[in-house]
Amino acid sequence: MNGLTAVILAAGEGKRMRSRQPKGLHQLCGRPLIAYPLRAARALADRIVLVHGPEAGALLRAAGEGVTFVEQRERLGSGHAVLQSEPACAEATTVLVLAGDMPLLTVETVERLVTHHAASGAAATVLTASVAEPHGYGRVLRQRGRVARIVEERDATDDEKKITEINTAVYCFEARRLWPALAALRPDNDQGEYYLTDVIPRLVRAGGRIEAVMVADPDDALGVNDRRQLAAVAAIQRQRILDRLMESGVTLLDPASTYIEDAVVIGTDTVVYPNVVVEGASVIGADCVIGTGSHLTASRLGDRVVLKPYCVFTEAVVEDEAILGPFCHLRPLSHVGAGAHVGNFVELKKTRLGRGSKANHLAYLGDATVGEGVNVGAGAITCNYDGLDKHETTIGDRAFVGTNASMVAPITIGAEAYIGAGSTVTRDVPPGALVVERAAPLVKDGWGARHAAQRAARKKKKG
Ligand code: UD1
Ligand code: CA
Repeated sequence: MNGLTAVILAAGEGKRMRSRQPKGLHQLCGRPLIAYPLRAARALADRIVLVHGPEAGALLRAAGEGVTFVEQRERLGSGHAVLQSEPACAEATTVLVLAGDMPLLTVETVERLVTHHAASGAAATVLTASVAEPHGYGRVLRQRGRVARIVEERDATDDEKKITEINTAVYCFEARRLWPALAALRPDNDQGEYYLTDVIPRLVRAGGRIEAVMVADPDDALGVNDRRQLAAVAAIQRQRILDRLMESGVTLLDPASTYIEDAVVIGTDTVVYPNVVVEGASVIGADCVIGTGSHLTASRLGDRVVLKPYCVFTEAVVEDEAILGPFCHLRPLSHVGAGAHVGNFVELKKTRLGRGSKANHLAYLGDATVGEGVNVGAGAITCNYDGLDKHETTIGDRAFVGTNASMVAPITIGAEAYIGAGSTVTRDVPPGALVVERAAPLVKDGWGARHAAQRAARKKKKG
C-alpha cells in the first residue's frame, strides 16, 4: 500500500470528436483510449477512481474490474471533476491525476512523476512537456525557476503564448492540501469553468512547493481532442508497437505497411511480410512466416507456422509447423493441428483439422471434426446447413475424401474410409470402407455424328 490513488478524468464532453460514443471508447491500436491511462494507474496506484459523465455505461464496462466510478453530473471543468472524486479518495495520501485522452503517456513516465513527487515532498508535481507547437495547451509560468501557475491558451497574453513549456494535465498532489484548494476554486476565466490548474497558485500561496517533471519524449503529452489527433496519435503508437516488436527479435520486412495492434504478441525470428494486419489479442509463435496481405484477428499461431500470402483468420488456432495459404480463410473456432496443410481457397469454420491432415484446394469444412492424417480432396464440401439447422461432420483418422465429395451432415466417415470422387454421401461410412455415390454412366456410341447430321438437315430446311 503506497497511499496513491489515481483519478482518471474522462467526463469531458469530447465535443470535438463529433461522435455519438464517449471519447474514451474510441479505439487506438486495438484498445479503447481509456485503457491506456488505466494501464498506468493499475501499474502504480493502490486505488483507481474514474470520473465520468452521464450515460457512460459502455465506458464503465470497458474500464473493467477494480475501478471506483464517480459521476460528474455537470461538466463544470477539470477542477470540479477532481473535486467530485474526494469521497472516493478518502484513503489517499497522494492523488495522481491522469487525463482520459492521453494514450501515449507511458507507465515509465508516470512512474518518474510519482517517484519524484514522493522524494521531493512537494504539495504538487506537474508533468510538463517542452513542445514546438504549444498552441492550445496550458502554458507553465515559472518564477525564479519554480512553477508558479498555469495559464490556458484562451486566457494567456501574447507573451505567455510564446512559452513552449506546457501542462500535460497529469499531476501528483498531496491529498490533504489538494482538497481545500479545490474547494476554494472560482470559475473566473474565459470559459467560466473550475480549472484544476488554478489550484497551483493557491497551493503556492498556502506555502506549498510545486515541482515539475518534464517528459523525455514530447509525444507522451499529445492529447486526443478530435479525429485528426486520434489518427496522428495512432500513427505514433503504431510505430512504438513495431519498434517494440523489432527490438524483441521480430523481422518486419516493411514496417510502413504493417499494422499490429497493441495486445499482439509475436515470438522471435518470426518474419512478417508487407501489408499484414494483426489485431486483437493475437499470439504468433517463434520462427513463423506471415505472408503478405494476411489479416489475423484474435488468433493464436504456434511455432514455425508458415502463412503463404493472403490468409484471413478470425479466432483461429493453428498449431506448430502447419502450412496455410495462399488465400485461405479460417473463421471462428477453427483449429488446425500440428503440421497440417490448408491450401488455396479453403474455408474452415468451427472445425478441427487433425495433426498432419491436408485440405489443399478449394474446400469448405464447417462444424467438422477431422482426424489425423486425413486427405481432403479438391472441392470437398461439408454440407452442414439444411436451411434450418447446422449439423456436424466427423471424419476419422487417415480417411480419404475424394475430389468434389459432398458430405451431407450429420454424418460420420470412419477411420481409413475412402470416399470416391464426386460422391454425395448421405449416410455414415464404416471404417475402412469405400463409398462411391454416383449415377451409373450413360454412354451412347455414335451420338456425336447423329447429332451433327440432325443439325445439318435443319439448316438446309431453313434455307
Ligand atoms: C487541459 C488543461 C491544459 C493542458 C491540457 C493538456 C485544464 C484547465 N487545462 O486542457 O492546461 O495543457 O489539458 O491536454 O485542465 N474533464 C472532466 N470534466 C470537465 C472538464 C474536463 O472530466 O468538466 C476532463 C476531460 O475529460 C479531460 C481532462 O479533464 O480528460 C482535461 O479536459 P479538457 O477539456 O480536455 O482540457 P484541455 O482544454 O485539453
Ligand atoms: Ca484534452
